Amino acid sequence: MTREKLRIGMFGYGCVGQGLHDVLNSSKGFKADIVRICVKDRTKKRRIPMEYFTYEKDDILNDPSINLVVELIDDADAAFDIVSTAMKNGKNVVTANKVMVAKHFKELVEMQEKYGVSLLYEASAGASIPIIRNLEEYYDNELLYSLRGILNGTTNYVLTLMHNQGIDYEIALNEAREKGFAESDPALDVEGWDAKYKLCIITGHAYGLFLEPEEVFHYGINHISKFDIQYAKEKGLKIKLVPYVGKTNENTITSFVLPRFISSDKYLYNVDNEYNGVITEAAFADKQFFSGKGAGGHATGSAVLSDISANSYGYRYEYKKYQQGTVSNYTRDHKIEIYLRYRDEKERELFEGIIWI
Ligand code: HSE
Repeated sequence: MTREKLRIGMFGYGCVGQGLHDVLNSSKGFKADIVRICVKDRTKKRRIPMEYFTYEKDDILNDPSINLVVELIDDADAAFDIVSTAMKNGKNVVTANKVMVAKHFKELVEMQEKYGVSLLYEASAGASIPIIRNLEEYYDNELLYSLRGILNGTTNYVLTLMHNQGIDYEIALNEAREKGFAESDPALDVEGWDAKYKLCIITGHAYGLFLEPEEVFHYGINHISKFDIQYAKEKGLKIKLVPYVGKTNENTITSFVLPRFISSDKYLYNVDNEYNGVITEAAFADKQFFSGKGAGGHATGSAVLSDISANSYGYRYEYKKYQQGTVSNYTRDHKIEIYLRYRDEKERELFEGIIWI
């Protein structure tokens, strides 16, 4: 198979951008040239010569010699503008931007078709875990019953520190930020948005439904206290933030993101720190478990590199489950039991016996 020689124009040089640079520099087999990097901040000191950098997006978007755009910026609206212009200009794109993909999913799928270009985004969900490619290629004909897991490294890191070391929520979150796991606005992590965006992207490939993120119920870990962790520990459980998508009947799926108690006999129990885990249950393959680093520059950079490499031999997502139309409905009408913590006897009386839906 012949590989196309790639000339890459990159947007953003933050944690993931620098991670990608390192990963690309140490890659023995595959080589690609990052010829231009567009950044916003003119004052920041950079690790590589300034001649690589530009502050004008058109220097990349209108350069006909650049055949691949790698988008790694933080701002989802600006990212959508860059990605859609690049695609209109006939350039293939690799992105790690889950907010952008989840919010414009259907439109981005249609644009690939319309402009005959490819958009790859393995790094957007589960970072180093190649879950999207697996859903596309391995599970393309499988009857997938459900998929669940841990898709946010920051919350898992925070919960792990609280559980193992009794560290306070705020201190643990600061540590996750320092290590480059958290979003610039960590509310996206701790409130469950980030996991939800990733779940929506995965759902597109697992079931062929492009959900509006607003449709999906989510609840984060920002209300979890030391008391809850202690309660879990006493019962031999851990608390994890778990996104779930699964079938409720032949044509219908449901999905949600919730903190859940996990017992020690479950795969997710040992998925700690910034690691992510994904469990699929399918008719023929049965149960499978994937695990890997879910956040951080190098882990995410490795997924971006894998997309860049796939791009060089013309790989594109075919959205097979969408083409097959396996699932047609989405429902939120699904019962879940939740644990309620009460602070005093009055609250206990109020809540006792209530099962929340
Ligand atoms: N903030 C994200 C996380 C980064 O913690 O999982 C990787 O998408």
